[in-house]
Amino acid sequence: MTAARILCVDHDQSHNDALLALLTELGHVAVSSVSPLRALEIVAAEPFDVVVTHLAMTEMDSMEFFARLHGTQPDIPIVVLTGQGSMDAVIRALRAGAYDFLTKPVDPSLLAACVARAAAHRRLRIEVQQLRRVVSTRAPQDGLVGASPALEQVRDLVGRVARSDASVLICGETGTGKELVARALHGTSERSSNAFVAINCAAIPSNLLESELFGHVRGAFTDARSTRRGLFVAASGGTLFLDEIAEMEAPMQTKLLRVLQERTVRPVGADSDVAYDARIVSATHRDLEKEVESGRFRQDLYFRINVVKITVPTLRERRADILSLAELFLARATARSGKAGIRISPEVAERLLAYHWPGNVRELENCIEGAVALARFTDLTIEDLPEKIRAYRSDAFVMIADEAHEIVSLETLEQRYITRVIKIVGGNKARAATLLGLDRRTLYRRLERYGLES
Ligand SMILES: Nc1ncnc2c1ncn2[C@@H]1O[C@H](COP(=O)(O)OP(=O)(O)OP(=O)(O)O)[C@@H](O)[C@H]1O
Ligand SMILES: [Mg+2]
Repeated sequence: MTAARILCVDHDQSHNDALLALLTELGHVAVSSVSPLRALEIVAAEPFDVVVTHLAMTEMDSMEFFARLHGTQPDIPIVVLTGQGSMDAVIRALRAGAYDFLTKPVDPSLLAACVARAAAHRRLRIEVQQLRRVVSTRAPQDGLVGASPALEQVRDLVGRVARSDASVLICGETGTGKELVARALHGTSERSSNAFVAINCAAIPSNLLESELFGHVRGAFTDARSTRRGLFVAASGGTLFLDEIAEMEAPMQTKLLRVLQERTVRPVGADSDVAYDARIVSATHRDLEKEVESGRFRQDLYFRINVVKITVPTLRERRADILSLAELFLARATARSGKAGIRISPEVAERLLAYHWPGNVRELENCIEGAVALARFTDLTIEDLPEKIRAYRSDAFVMIADEAHEIVSLETLEQRYITRVIKIVGGNKARAATLLGLDRRTLYRRLERYGLES
């Protein structure tokens, strides 16, 4: 038997003492309190496996005690003690979430069995929660969460070009996951055991960028107190990620072009070249072709860095991934804040799916983190969402009506709407049913009726 930590709550100290003696004899660690308020403080301060409490308490109504205890410690099983002939109270207690009951005078063997079961129940609940968290936080191998066709295309492209040394240009709106794609590319390449070196070209003043990238020799400029190798050499054998490459100024573009052509760098102040062997991956949120057209970006450099182009889709273009991403961020945020068990309510899911996400995945991540910070220990509600997402008016309905430019029967409209929702959630019928406010069987019946089962 595993020893359990048990808290006994009875307003009668002599009853507490008797119970404590029994439990200690059974090999458990027991603590008692005559006050339910004090008991709440005790469980908040240290972990317990089981709470055994008398039903009729003077200081606080038992139901309130249960609610407050489960409000902060939803996993602690409560065993209630009751006198003979108070079955009504027991039933109410069980309905209010008590785990089991024992009648007084307590039979030691029943007490032993009941406490052992309750403690095992709690361990199991915690284990399931931990497993769930591990499963949902563990992103697929490449770290990219999502199964939408648009993301599958990216994944496919990453898989195909990872093994070559071709330069890759990653494009996509802000927050779509460009850096994550660059890391996935490195992680699945043969260079993965060597360094992934990232530099944000927009964040470094142009006069420092050259020595940062190519290195410098001692005394090359006032602050160059020692010789330093640059990032090209540091990334040798691995991948160099040039983020926000469109922000690079013209003179630097010219130098970079030469470095990419020759596959050598010349450190600032040096009089000879150093070879490097880094795979070049660049990223930008700008339309680089337009930058070339307007003369802000060198065309020959553009061709060099853009041997293969990967365009990361916006979140709007892959709504089917919104809920899986939201669940990933929820699992991470709740694990950090200790609010395990919080879920996304159907109303919240509906708003998340309707919103247009101009800041893409990063905006969704911030939104969920903020919501978890605001949330009580209940599931996320609409009030936990930022105002702009709460107030966002979806034009989904208008779109179905407009699409056809025709008046259709309610049945046809329903059929189209159901099809649309199923498409939005990536074919997950359980999710679609929740959003539509139907139980799953009703949804299946309608699909059957409309011949939409597949
Ligand atoms: N498919 C995905 N699965 C899991 N997390 C993702 C995914 N896409 C993006 N993220 C997360 O979203 C956030 C933004 O991603 P990332 O920094 O890669 O975007 P970015 O396109 O480089 O943005 P920016 O243009 O603003 O630099 C990160 O926290 C990243 O981990
Ligand atoms: Mg980025």
